[in-house]
Parts: sequence; C-alpha cells; structure tokens
Amino acid sequence: MATRLVVSLPDEPEYSVRIGAGVLDALGRNIREIERLQKVRDALILTDSNVGPLYLARAKGALSSEGFKVAEITVPAGEASKSIEVAAEVWSAMAQLALGRDCLVVALGGGVVGDLAGFVASTYMRGVPVVQVPTTLLAMVDSSVGGKTAVNLPEGKNLVGTFYQPTFVCADTSTLQSLPMREWLCGCGEVVKSAVLDSDEFFFWLLDHVEDLSNRNESVVAEVVKRCVAFKASVVAQDKTESSGVRECLNFGHTLGHAIESAAGYGTFSHGACVAEGMRFALELADSLGEPVAEGFAATLGDLLDALGLRRLEFAAEAAALLDAMKRDKKVRGGSVRFVLLDDISKWRVVSAPDESIIGALSRMYSERRPL
Ligand SMILES: NC(=O)c1ccc[n+]([C@@H]2O[C@H](COP(=O)([O-])OP(=O)(O)OC[C@H]3O[C@@H](n4cnc5c(N)ncnc54)[C@H](O)[C@@H]3O)[C@@H](O)[C@H]2O)c1
Repeated sequence: MATRLVVSLPDEPEYSVRIGAGVLDALGRNIREIERLQKVRDALILTDSNVGPLYLARAKGALSSEGFKVAEITVPAGEASKSIEVAAEVWSAMAQLALGRDCLVVALGGGVVGDLAGFVASTYMRGVPVVQVPTTLLAMVDSSVGGKTAVNLPEGKNLVGTFYQPTFVCADTSTLQSLPMREWLCGCGEVVKSAVLDSDEFFFWLLDHVEDLSNRNESVVAEVVKRCVAFKASVVAQDKTESSGVRECLNFGHTLGHAIESAAGYGTFSHGACVAEGMRFALELADSLGEPVAEGFAATLGDLLDALGLRRLEFAAEAAALLDAMKRDKKVRGGSVRFVLLDDISKWRVVSAPDESIIGALSRMYSERRPL
C-alpha cells in the first residue's frame, strides 16, 4: 500500500511524497496530477551508472506512457559526480537537447544524483522543476526532502549549492532491495538519528521493529521512510534555509562523524557508520561536560545501533587529530566546536564544547574503548 505525505513549507508550493513498493510505475501519472506540471512535454532523467541499469527503463516507461518525451543522462556512480564540471556537462547537454524552461528534471538515484540534479535544475534557465526519485535509504529518509542541493569543490564538500524544493518525490521502497549492505547501513544511521530526535514513540517503535527493518521487510521499510520524511518535513518547515537554528538538530552525530570520515580517509568507513559513532560520542561528551543524560539512554541507543549492524568502529586516532578535523568543519563558531547533544530522546540542544572536554571524551572513548 502506497502512502502520500504532503510537505508544506512557508512561501513554497506544497509538494507530495509518495512512498511504497511499486510507486515508480505510477511516476508519470502522479506527475500529471500536479497542476504546474500538466503541460510539461520534455523530461530529462538524471541517473548514475549503478542505478541506470536497474531502474532507468522503468522510469522511462512510466513517463513515456503519460506522453513525456524522455531524455536521459547517466553520470558515473559516486561522490566525484557531485562536481561543478559534471554540472556543467549536464547544463550543456540540456542546452543541446534544446530543453526550455518548461522541461522537467527527474533525479533517479541516491543523494549524489539528487543533490546534483537539484542543483542543475535550480540553475538551468534560472530554475526548472525537479522531481526526486530516491533509490537509497539515505536519500528516501533524508536528502530527497528539504530542498538542499549542492556540488563539492576541491576545498570541501557541499560548498556550492542552493535551497530549491522538489515539485514531487517518488520513493519506491522496492528499489531498496538491490541496495548494497554498506549503503543500506548508511541510511540506517540517519534513520536512528531521525527517530531519536523525533519522539519516544518513533524511537521505541523502531526498537520493536529492528529485525524486520534489517530484513528489509516492505511494510516496515515504508513505515520507516514515512516517519523519517514526516520528521524531516517538520524540521524543515520550522527552518527552511537553516537560519533559525532548528535545522541544526539534523547534525546530531555528524560533528565527530565527519571528522572520522576525513581522518580515516573518505570511503574507509561508511558515512552511516561514522554518524553512528558520532551519536555515541555525543552522549559521552555530554557526560564529560557534566550535562544531564537520562539513565540508560546511552545504552539503549547503543543497543539500537548494534542491532541494526552499526557497531562501534575499529578505529584508532589521536584525539588531537580528530579535534583538528572537527575544527576544519563548518560547525565551528568562534574557535569552539559545536555539538548537538541529547539529554534524552527528542531533547536536544546545541553546545559549544571547550577543547579540553572534547579531548577528554575522545581519549576515554578511544583509549579505554568502553562499550558505548
Ligand atoms: N541534500 C541533502 O539534504 C542531503 C542530506 C544528506 C546527504 N546528502 C548527500 O547525499 C550524498 C550521499 O547519498 P547516498 O548515500 O544516497 O549516496 P549515493 O548517491 O552515492 O548512492 C550510494 C551508492 O548506491 C548506489 N545505488 C543507489 N541506489 C541504488 C539501488 N537502489 N540499488 C543499488 N545501488 C544503488 C549508487 O550508485 C552509489 O554507488 C552525499 O553527497 C551527501 O552530501 C544530501
């Protein structure tokens, strides 16, 4: 059974997110139901070299059957495609196809394709509509909703981008059956983050459904995606352009997570595994700062991460090197590293932590290797 959520953001047209197994086959019909897109003739599908062979034919069929003239561009799979050079190749290809302002860009893939397609769509002819068709768990629960688009620079990730909301999101959960385990776990890290920030209800429901989620049970996966999208939409509705501070909660686990990704070398550990480590660390740091943490919370969160396959990393780095990596990240203000901390489920706040507390917590976590 497919479900539909509506994302309502201030000063933006509402958009729907359709979630469920098989919704990809209704992509064209669902797009035609959107008033602004009823007259669109040209659709450009942007996909990558892994996703294209699996789902491009279905996406094309679903669009052609509704009268769309469909073109496609396939970029190499991987983060390197999120670059200004690849964006420029896509802009040129669109111009050569003589696509006008009345075309539609369809992002078929994970967060890389979604961020690239969103960026290209937001800039080509000063903006053409984009439909997100996420095919990774991470893209379904996080990146396809909220309107952040970006490309990377050699100087850093996501340094150039726009806020540009999609016109429709089509999350076909059956596509997750082909997702490699490492990518699946990446999304699981974000699922736990959403649940723990959202509510007791979501967190304990997730604990009760860990096994079904790990087995990629269709209805449980769809329910997880639905809950995460509802959570993300509520956060973005309060802070569309990351200016009021509310959206900052989404960085939970990411401060240390990004530092580990960079210190260990990008690709050594998956993003999700690093975020999981970062979430465990945030609770250790709270303890170090003398901040109250509800009894048993760290252990329950650790158990949930373990049960999903996000175990403690086999990783050793000097505390000073990790602190250095954190200081190079965007979350530093006035020289202090900022962390999202939680006292308990859904009770988050942002703190600027003194270096010595960070070093202390890192040393404890990595030299004593306590089971967090
Ligand atoms: N815009 C946002 O709000 C936001 C939020 C979080 C992350 N991001 C960005 O998202 C990107 C990461 O996204 P990702 O984790 O989806 O990575 P990804 O897009 O690189 O996809 C991961 C891998 O899985 C493959 N793949 C995708 N779907 C598949 C499927 N159904 N079956 C088999 N293989 C499949 C891809 O080809 C790729 O090799 C990063 O660039 C990150 O910066 C953006």
